[in-house]
Amino acid sequence: MRQVKRLGLLGTGVIGGGWAARALHFGIDVVAADVKPEMEGWIRGAVENAEGALARLTLAPLPPKGRLTFTTDLNAMAAQVDFIQENIPEQLELKQRILGQVSRHAPADVLIASSTSGLMPTDLQRDMQHPERFLVAHPFNPVYLLPLVELVGGAKTSAESIDAAARFFTYIGMHALKVRREVPGHLTDRLQEALWREILHMVNEDVATTGELDDSIVYGPGLRWAAMGTNLIYHLAGGETGMRHMLRQFGPALKWPWTKLEAPELTESLIDKMVEGTQAQADGRSIREIERLRDGYLVAIQQVLKQFNIGAGSTLRALEERLYEDAAGTARASIRASVDKGTELRLIELEVRPEWIDYNGHMTDSRYLQVFGDATDALLRYAGVDDEYRKSGRALFTVESHVTHRAEAKAMEPLYVTTRVLELDDKRIRLFHSLFRRRDDVLVATAEQVYLHVAQGKAAAMGAALHEALARVQASHAKLPAPAHAGRVTLRPAG
Ligand SMILES: NC(=O)c1ccc[n+]([C@@H]2O[C@H](COP(=O)([O-])OP(=O)(O)OC[C@H]3O[C@@H](n4cnc5c(N)ncnc54)[C@H](O)[C@@H]3O)[C@@H](O)[C@H]2O)c1
Repeated sequence: MRQVKRLGLLGTGVIGGGWAARALHFGIDVVAADVKPEMEGWIRGAVENAEGALARLTLAPLPPKGRLTFTTDLNAMAAQVDFIQENIPEQLELKQRILGQVSRHAPADVLIASSTSGLMPTDLQRDMQHPERFLVAHPFNPVYLLPLVELVGGAKTSAESIDAAARFFTYIGMHALKVRREVPGHLTDRLQEALWREILHMVNEDVATTGELDDSIVYGPGLRWAAMGTNLIYHLAGGETGMRHMLRQFGPALKWPWTKLEAPELTESLIDKMVEGTQAQADGRSIREIERLRDGYLVAIQQVLKQFNIGAGSTLRALEERLYEDAAGTARASIRASVDKGTELRLIELEVRPEWIDYNGHMTDSRYLQVFGDATDALLRYAGVDDEYRKSGRALFTVESHVTHRAEAKAMEPLYVTTRVLELDDKRIRLFHSLFRRRDDVLVATAEQVYLHVAQGKAAAMGAALHEALARVQASHAKLPAPAHAGRVTLRPAG
């Protein structure tokens, strides 16, 4: 299967827009295709809207943003992309027809996935050419922030297609959940639907308002679900003997009439109650306002879960590890060549992201430290400070940073960082970074930084292999003239 550099979107509504934002953010080009030309403006707006929250998801070094193009020619899109994600309305005949059509224009090694909420892949792939490359890849709204994507194969889907799709979705920061066999509604929508049907019953029978039912989730089970789901939490409900005891204790309740599952009739009066209830909850706030609030806390929750390496937090952690490794991987080969030649290391290539711009139209202060930090990270990874090293309780902490600003960097400006090892002892290293504009090699900023090696929270000598690798780099820099802006800090004791 192909490496996905360009994603094709079929249908650019709510879900297509979400896929576009996620893919572009992680450096994938997007060709968006929709039958309605006015959707171009819509999808560009959706991508822009998503950017605020996405930009706060991680500080790990990102590749340059992907490029978005739009077309109303579905076949032309299919002929020029590496992966197609279909997001047109949830109608079986329409999807079958359009999937069959685009499959005749997409090369045989291009995977085609459907975002369908509940249709079966065997039905969807019926009229396709090369149906073995088709699967359901069901995301969740907002696609750009929720990592879950359910992967479901149909009767003709190959296992390789599912695996290749899982690799792509993981690359763009998602948790690919392989569903063992196709069932209507896949996994998550079956669970959500059960809850939803009970909600409709209770509102219909005036047992509770929509707001009270939401309170019954958000103050309680919702907090547990985000990290442990239902089953592991119920395992805890059984005390020391876990699930077995829990089933013995609460088993009889399964026979009681606690749930109805079959939905009530959607009468006008029920619809009114649902609409009035949610309007009261919205309390005058627009959909956009509530979306921004939702996006903000979805980012914050994932960052908290990351500390516990659990659920969506472990997906975010794995994504960041991949991003740092990719940045370091690019740096590795160039470090080796530089050490041989005795030149400065060129560690990081980047573009000033639009969200890094301050009110003066230039890259804002804090991002300089982030970029220099990424360069340090790439050097240290090369020398052996990776996840394994850190798991042993050892790391390098920043103890001093001196940044000088020499020129401006505007949005989308391509930049690069060069790095020198100025000093090294058994516990400390002094680095000097220079940030340049790629187009004219003008120096934009410098940073002189001292890092201290710690083990189990205390200053301690570096591991021998790490020290040796850094010493080799330092020796290769020994003959270079001292950088003009260096000397604001030194490892030698004062006086
Ligand atoms: N909305 C959700 O929360 C959600 C979540 C997960 C999955 N899904 C699934 O994603 C799919 C799309 O849902 P949505 O909410 O984005 O719908 P939507 O109505 O917002 O968008 C559908 C888009 O498809 C376009 N379209 C219609 N016919 C087309 C055709 N023949 N060719 C190309 N484009 C066409 C429409 O112009 C529209 O822009 C559905 O299958 C749905 O079940 C939706």
